[in-house]
Amino acid sequence: MLRRGGLVAFPTETVYGLGADAADATAVRRLYAVKARPVDHPVIVHVANSSQLDDLANDVPPWGRALAVAFWPGPLTLVVRRRTGAVCDEVTGGRDTVAVRVPAHPLAHALLAAFAGGVAAPSANRFGKVSPTTAEHVRADLDGDVDMILDGGPCAVGVESTIVDATGGEPVVLREGGVRIDAIAHVVGGDVRLATNGEVAAPGTLPSHYAPLARVEVVAAEDLAPQPGAFVLALDAVAVPAGLERLAAPHDADEYARMLYSQLREADARGAQVVLAVPPPAEGIGAAVLDRLTRAASVRRR
Ligand code: TXA
Ligand code: MG
Repeated sequence: MLRRGGLVAFPTETVYGLGADAADATAVRRLYAVKARPVDHPVIVHVANSSQLDDLANDVPPWGRALAVAFWPGPLTLVVRRRTGAVCDEVTGGRDTVAVRVPAHPLAHALLAAFAGGVAAPSANRFGKVSPTTAEHVRADLDGDVDMILDGGPCAVGVESTIVDATGGEPVVLREGGVRIDAIAHVVGGDVRLATNGEVAAPGTLPSHYAPLARVEVVAAEDLAPQPGAFVLALDAVAVPAGLERLAAPHDADEYARMLYSQLREADARGAQVVLAVPPPAEGIGAAVLDRLTRAASVRRR
């Protein structure tokens, strides 16, 4: 299907991706059209093995390679200098850099290994909507517009990959995600700068991302109070006052991340007006959860 220019949704350990042959400009244009994604938002290229990094990239710094060795396959994306001709311009939004990731999900690996080339894949949701963590989510969002959906069960991580810019002299984190910042700092042997807001570096990190129809409010546990149409998303250790209904009660930050997007969808399915989200401690994957909740909460509604 990919070789014929088709669109194939597939599971990764983070979220489901919507894949197209990264070398096929027509296929990638269709990918943008189906997602309703602005064409200047570059997409990540997925490959089966770390050894394919050099098919796509030039001048990867030694610490970039060290990060690949440490975290691939896994929820890390490296932005690197793009090798001419390796992927079509549509993939990179015309930039001279390309984002590369080697996912850990066995079904993703099987697909990428069989295809052999790079697969351009954004999350398999319409632009600005909640990312999918099950095949059912993909079907609900994109059915009819994708040629095939591979069902690999629910995603184990649940939030997107950590994106590290490896095109400068030092690593810069463009998006928090499945790999902890302190683990990255440990591998590169120094502090790591975060540039996760504002500038054009990773254009997909717009505040409007990751939002359900319900309003999202990020609240402290002690500020929880009943209000009409409100549902609570909080760790099970958080006491919820009488009169407030829980969406779910994850046990720790990992479980919170795993169920975050499905619970935001569940809120809409239950007709919630507002999701009162008490974030887990902003540490490790908890930092990525807080990032997504904050972005969802910053969406202005009519
Ligand atoms: O976990 C993930 O990364 C998932 C799975 C499917 O792999 N993919 C994902 O893709 O989250 P997407 O398109 O939703 O987000 C990709 C992010 C965007 O913020 C985009 O701007 C950034 O990667 N990106 C892609 N290429 C880039 C580049 N050359 N320079 C800077 N940022 C880039
Ligand atoms: Mg996305």
